[in-house]
Amino acid sequence: MVKIAPSILAANFARLEEEIQSVEAGGADYIHIDVMDGHFVPNITIGPLVVDAVRPITKLPLDVHLMIEKPEAYIDAFVEAGADIISVHVEASPHLHRTIEQIKQKGIKAGVVLNPHTPVETIEGILEEVDLILIMSVNPGFGGQTFIQSSLKKMRTLSQWKKERNLSYEIEVDGGVNEETAKLCKEAGADVLVAGSAIYQQNDRAAAIRAIRG
Ligand code: DX5
Ligand code: ZN
Repeated sequence: MVKIAPSILAANFARLEEEIQSVEAGGADYIHIDVMDGHFVPNITIGPLVVDAVRPITKLPLDVHLMIEKPEAYIDAFVEAGADIISVHVEASPHLHRTIEQIKQKGIKAGVVLNPHTPVETIEGILEEVDLILIMSVNPGFGGQTFIQSSLKKMRTLSQWKKERNLSYEIEVDGGVNEETAKLCKEAGADVLVAGSAIYQQNDRAAAIRAIRG
C-alpha cells in the first residue's frame, strides 16, 4: 500500500499540534516537513527548532525535506532535533555522496531530491546508497502548485531501475498531489505521496488521506 506523507507547510502553524495529530489519526505514514532558506528557494519556513517541538507530539517518522543551500552544514542540527529521514537536493549538493554518508552515519535514513528539470540520470551513481528518492512534481518553494506531468516518466524510470537492479529505495513524489494525480503517481511506481493542500484544505483529514491513497 502506498504511503501518505502530509506536508505541514499547508497546516495552520498556530495549531501545529492538532494539525499533526489529525493526520496521524487519519492514517498518515510520515510527517513531511519542508525546510526552506530563502536562498535555494524563494521562501523561508521551518528550522530545527520547529522539528524539535514537533518530535514529542507524534510517533510518525519525520520526513525532513531540506530546500536549503549547504545542507551538509545543518544535518546534525536536524538529526538532533529528531528527524527520521533527511533528504537533500542534488542541485544543492556538489558532494552528494559525502552528504548522504553524513546522514546515514547519524543512524537515520537518507534521501535525495530532484527538481523538475533535473534528469534522473544525475543520481544513477548513488542509487545503492540512498533510502529514498524524492521527485519534485512542482518547482519547490510553495504549496498549492500544479502537478508537472513530466515527473511521471522519472518515477517510471526509477521504478524500473529498482526492479532491474534489485534495489530498495522508496520513490516519493512531492507537489500538486491530489486524488487524480495520485493515481498517475501510483501507476508510475511511487511508494510515498506527499500532499499538503489536498489534505489540509479538507476538514476531514482521514477522508482526504483515504481519497489520495485510493
Ligand atoms: C514544495 C514543498 C511541498 C509542498 C507540497 O516546495 O516541497 O512539500 O508542501 O504542497 P502541495 O501538496 O500543496 O503541492
Ligand atoms: Zn516537500
